[in-house]
Amino acid sequence: EEKEKQRLREAMDLAARLFHHLLMNTDHGEEAREYLTRRGIQHSTMEEFQLGYAPDSYRFLLPFLKRRGFHEDELIKAGLVAQRDSSTGGRSSCFDRFRGRVMFPIHDSQGRVIAFGGRLLGDGRPKYLNSPETPLFHKGKFLFNLHRARKSIRKEAQSVLFEGYMDVIAAWQAGVKNGVATLGTSLTDSQARVIRRNAETVILCYDSDTPGQQAAERGMDVLRERECVVKVARMPHGMDPDDYIGEYGADAFTDEVLAQALPFTAFKLETIKKDHNLNDEDDRMQYLARAVELVARLPQAIERDHYLRRLSEEFDISLDALKQEQRKAASKKK
Ligand code: CTP
Ligand code: MN
Ligand code: MN
Ligand code: MN
Ligand code: MN
Repeated sequence: EEKEKQRLREAMDLAARLFHHLLMNTDHGEEAREYLTRRGIQHSTMEEFQLGYAPDSYRFLLPFLKRRGFHEDELIKAGLVAQRDSSTGGRSSCFDRFRGRVMFPIHDSQGRVIAFGGRLLGDGRPKYLNSPETPLFHKGKFLFNLHRARKSIRKEAQSVLFEGYMDVIAAWQAGVKNGVATLGTSLTDSQARVIRRNAETVILCYDSDTPGQQAAERGMDVLRERECVVKVARMPHGMDPDDYIGEYGADAFTDEVLAQALPFTAFKLETIKKDHNLNDEDDRMQYLARAVELVARLPQAIERDHYLRRLSEEFDISLDALKQEQRKAASKKK
């Protein structure tokens, strides 16, 4: 069991090194090098993240690893090689899973390569292809970049959670070293636990598009369930962190986006507000009712008090009236 895993780790490590070598030093990797450079990725970052390139061929990695003594079955188990329907017979039905893609190695907490994400250089589907579940890799349990970010997460007592590999990497280049990302799925409870174990506060920095915002809504709940202090970063609609950094630069990203991230409740209030026309009296009252309901659900009395006072001031309504409504809402919820 452990021996098998060790073999798979060796295969993953060799693959990562081959892909990296192809990207950095060979003609095969030229287009991918240009692609990454065009996207603003520096040479030193390609090195640091051990980025790679898988050539657009069905048999490149497979014969390479076979020559190094790996059996096809092992490579299938590692998720590096896929198998065609064998009923057609003929020669080997195995082929490289990753072809024509920029390769992002995914590491476990000890920094060992356990999986890859691969991005096509151009358009096409799927844009990202990830390793399947393997004995080494359970995608709901790992976070991209955690092993590099951990020190900084602990030092700053805060992590930044992104959606994409490129967002983590662009942020890293912008000096944000405490960024991690989920691996093409929504945040799981076990990832939230890992995050919480390293720091209490998390800034959610998901894409400012519809899927990103929906994923962020779910992510907030998962994180709060594990007692994280959640903040939410906001960007102009349609942008993701990588786009934002490319457009406005590193300082704008840290000063305007991360530093201005809203506490969870303030973010929720902002979100609800968008559904209401505050110039209309009825609508304003409806907003207040929903806002008080939200506040009533907060677990901490201090927080409830803080937001009720804010609402009281903002709308010039007595704190007593809001507290009454809050009690009503609280008893209704139970
Ligand atoms: N994703 C995926 N498979 C896809 C599309 C998306 O696994 N076919 C995941 C990836 O983890 C991706 C994230 O969902 O990073 C967000 O998708 P998207 O915003 O489309 O990708 P970006 O990370 O912005 O990719 P890029 O900047 O390279 O276009
Ligand atoms: Mn190198
Ligand atoms: Mn997106
Ligand atoms: Mn994106
Ligand atoms: Mn992007």
